[in-house]
Amino acid sequence: MTKISRRQFLGQSALMASAAAGMGYAAPHLALGQENKVRPNEQLGVVIVGAGGRGLGSHGGEWLSNPNTKILYFCDPDEKIGNKACDTVAEKNGFRPKFVRDMREAFEDKNLAVMSCASTNHWHALAGVWAVQAGLHCYIEKPISHNVHEGQALVAAAKKYAKCVQTGSQCRSNPANIEANKFIRSGGIGEVKFARGLCYKRRTAIGAKGEFEPPASVDYNLWTGPAPLVPVTRPRFHYDWHWQRLYGNGDLGNQGPHQTDIARWHIGVDRFPNSVISYGGRLGYDIHNPKNNDPDYVDAGDTANTETTIYDYGDKCIVFEVRGLETPSYKGASVGVIVYGSEGYLVQINYSHSIAYDNDGKVLKEFKGGRDSLHFTNFIDAVQKNDPSLLNADARVGALSAGMSHLGNISYYLGEDNKVSVDGAKKTLEGIKSLDNNIDTLERMVEHLTSEKNGVDLKKTPLSMGPLLKIDPEKEVFLDNDKANAMLTREYRGEFVVPAVDKV
Ligand SMILES: NC(=O)c1ccc[n+]([C@@H]2O[C@H](COP(=O)([O-])OP(=O)(O)OC[C@H]3O[C@@H](n4cnc5c(N)ncnc54)[C@H](O)[C@@H]3O)[C@@H](O)[C@H]2O)c1
Repeated sequence: MTKISRRQFLGQSALMASAAAGMGYAAPHLALGQENKVRPNEQLGVVIVGAGGRGLGSHGGEWLSNPNTKILYFCDPDEKIGNKACDTVAEKNGFRPKFVRDMREAFEDKNLAVMSCASTNHWHALAGVWAVQAGLHCYIEKPISHNVHEGQALVAAAKKYAKCVQTGSQCRSNPANIEANKFIRSGGIGEVKFARGLCYKRRTAIGAKGEFEPPASVDYNLWTGPAPLVPVTRPRFHYDWHWQRLYGNGDLGNQGPHQTDIARWHIGVDRFPNSVISYGGRLGYDIHNPKNNDPDYVDAGDTANTETTIYDYGDKCIVFEVRGLETPSYKGASVGVIVYGSEGYLVQINYSHSIAYDNDGKVLKEFKGGRDSLHFTNFIDAVQKNDPSLLNADARVGALSAGMSHLGNISYYLGEDNKVSVDGAKKTLEGIKSLDNNIDTLERMVEHLTSEKNGVDLKKTPLSMGPLLKIDPEKEVFLDNDKANAMLTREYRGEFVVPAVDKV
């Protein structure tokens, strides 16, 4: 079938729906090396797990516009959101996917070939493990895991069941980044050893911590899944879970797996670092909470909104900076990556635009192009050929890039009560091995927080300094730190257990 635009597809969809009704939906319950029963002219049955902003808006749109896929199910513990997604597809395309609350019900359907997961972070890995066990290929949003153990389990499960598991880090499929990577690899900016990822993205307070009822349409036990079943403490139930560590991973784990991923790729590191340290805080929301401007205000979020993390690889280094208050861009990027070479540097300005400069700031080359659908079609191509090696961001890529953010957050959480003055922070950072100028990066963070716009008083609300944690990159464990090692996983609940690697 020739490729058509989403707009064209939506227009033709009623026709296609009736044509598809006579087609079989391929369900590749196959091991690698077996004949692939997925044929190019067959539509792959898809279940979208998580029908919120990303699930309906992006995954739904992509699978609707792709002539090789058909959405058979939307799954969401919130029946209002799930049913609305089914209605939206029905209105536009003349067929209505089935709604299920529990993904396991859909996974029993042999007409399914693909799970497309855009649920909350704390469900990603378990959904993925269950899906590959049920014989499904998976497209799973970043971060692919909520902790390091989950990433390892998902990688093991993808391998054991020989399934394509694509991480939703779409930058990996954009020509701008692929070409930039080739340019760097061929020495375009000289020797590269250091990259800085940035998430300079304004995030507001999420409201005062309290006790709230989940929406009546939500099966809260199912929503909670692998996390502890505790009362809801944030005013807005959906989306704001990103800023509560039981379910989300803050912006280090939300944006980080995009930019740290590019940083890793461009400087060529495919493993965990030798050490990590993270410092910052959830700062400025006492004075910037628009509703009450109350100094005793406690925001319901408990992840950092300001955080610098240093990953040392011995001969290479990555730094990731999160800023959630007002901030100008840095070297032309706000949410992007700067790769430093001996003969120049490259700035990833956005997901589909990078510029390489020489050391005098003269443009060497510009790299443009990309859109999210390329990553989805890369996945479908791999599924159709039943070949996970074709994926641009397989489970291992996702587990590493998400895993790095988990390592950083572990250092931050362990040091949360270790409040330091700016001088105290300088003292610690002077002793930390890094290819960055640690003091300059700290000073930029301090200037940002204490600026007129942000007005954070670092004497009243000081920075937290996490411990320097040494890592065994092969075993992917911390060296001599039981507390940190305990945080590589979580205590799972009842039926919602992400199994050990040898038990997937
Ligand atoms: N790749 C990207 O550029 C990109 C962009 C936006 C979001 N995302 C990722 O997409 C995911 C969803 O983000 P969002 O903004 O749509 O959040 P959201 O809160 O709007 O939606 C999440 C949905 O998942 C549902 N959910 C929770 N548990 C579930 C379960 N067990 N089964 C099925 N559904 C379940 C929730 O009820 C909710 O409807 C996040 O992991 C986020 O990081 C990726």
